[in-house]
Amino acid sequence: MTDLVLRNARLAGAGEFADISIDGGVISAIGPAADRGAVEPTTGETVDLAGRLVTPPLVEPHIHLDAVLTVGQPRPNVSGSLFEGIAVWADRVASLSYEDVQARVRQILRWQLACGVLHVRSHVDVCDPQLRALRALVDLREEVRGLIDLQLVAFPQQGILAFDGGQHLMRKAVELGADVVGGIPHYELTREDGVESVRFAMALADEHGLMVDIHCDETDDDHSRFVEVMAAETIRRGMSGRVTASHTTAMHSYNSAYAYRLISNIARAGLHMVTNPLDNAVLQGRFDTGPIRRGHTRVKQLLAAGVNVCIGHDSVMDPWYPLGYGDPLQAAFVLVHLGQMSGDSELGQLIEMITSRPAAALGLADYGLRPGGPADLVVFDAPSAADALRLVAPRTLVLRAGRAVARAEPARHTVRWLGADEPVTFLRS
Ligand code: FE2
Repeated sequence: MTDLVLRNARLAGAGEFADISIDGGVISAIGPAADRGAVEPTTGETVDLAGRLVTPPLVEPHIHLDAVLTVGQPRPNVSGSLFEGIAVWADRVASLSYEDVQARVRQILRWQLACGVLHVRSHVDVCDPQLRALRALVDLREEVRGLIDLQLVAFPQQGILAFDGGQHLMRKAVELGADVVGGIPHYELTREDGVESVRFAMALADEHGLMVDIHCDETDDDHSRFVEVMAAETIRRGMSGRVTASHTTAMHSYNSAYAYRLISNIARAGLHMVTNPLDNAVLQGRFDTGPIRRGHTRVKQLLAAGVNVCIGHDSVMDPWYPLGYGDPLQAAFVLVHLGQMSGDSELGQLIEMITSRPAAALGLADYGLRPGGPADLVVFDAPSAADALRLVAPRTLVLRAGRAVARAEPARHTVRWLGADEPVTFLRS
């Protein structure tokens, strides 16, 4: 007896279709579709997925929920640059309210849910003496728990040392319930302050048993070298597996001898890395007159060194990035191009970078499709990882604990072809 059976699912990397049975919110069996005896007959619903790709839930490791849907407020970012974006946001923070933050974030969480995202790590700006955004998100975290699980990063957008009272606000944010300690060392006033800010953040996290996720070296300046400090502190404190370096775009511009040594130390420290292809595609290289650098971290070299690299969305319609709808697959599609990851095996790796890899970075204990595991999964309207990326395919079904939390009927196209109407599916026939 089962609540739900999904027939003919394509699991990533598997050649044959599988049937998945779900009982009491848990996956009770997964077996080859050809071997129907592996999956019990059901008294509940049976859904034929007709060979669609099924993955564990998408995991968003890096977004700024407090800023979503503020594009143009209180004024547009005319240049589109990172630093004008920071200035515009600083003015928008003045009018933040608890209700304003929650209303905007609820909308984006619904968008993410429709995309199959069930776990989200959000940076939250704490350079606000009243910590309004953090208070709003701490309460919202409880409201949506069990539907979308939120991790909140105490993120000092204006710096820990550069912002008046920054250290106090970081401690206060931890007291209020931040899950993760952040930082922005390349934005501090001096190199020494940057180093001190990393050490402060790591010590604060260590003291409270929290994780660390630092915006690190998000610049084209090849002298911005704070990831090495993160790696060293992680090794010294024995915090391997609990520390993430985000953006790290300066790595693109390091000389290769330095990058080689750094990547070795990142691997030794067990740092997780998050690259944000959407924002950094438009924000980096702004001081170049040509050739314009792509400004992404060294994704391929990091992966080759065995480092866990994840994809983040970063922004949805905010002062830094005016587009997006919170879909990690769209960010992965962009990284195919800017990271030159169009190789046959790399397409599957990109799906890992929005599922299992960020799950590891967030420290999710109960994750993955397996008998006895939670019946949390996503169905793509595509037969493979390559097709999912090619089409940025809609998600037709999202399950959380065996319940459908999102469904979609994708658009079907018809063309007038030589006098007759013909359906078009965008799949090879
Ligand atoms: Fe970010």
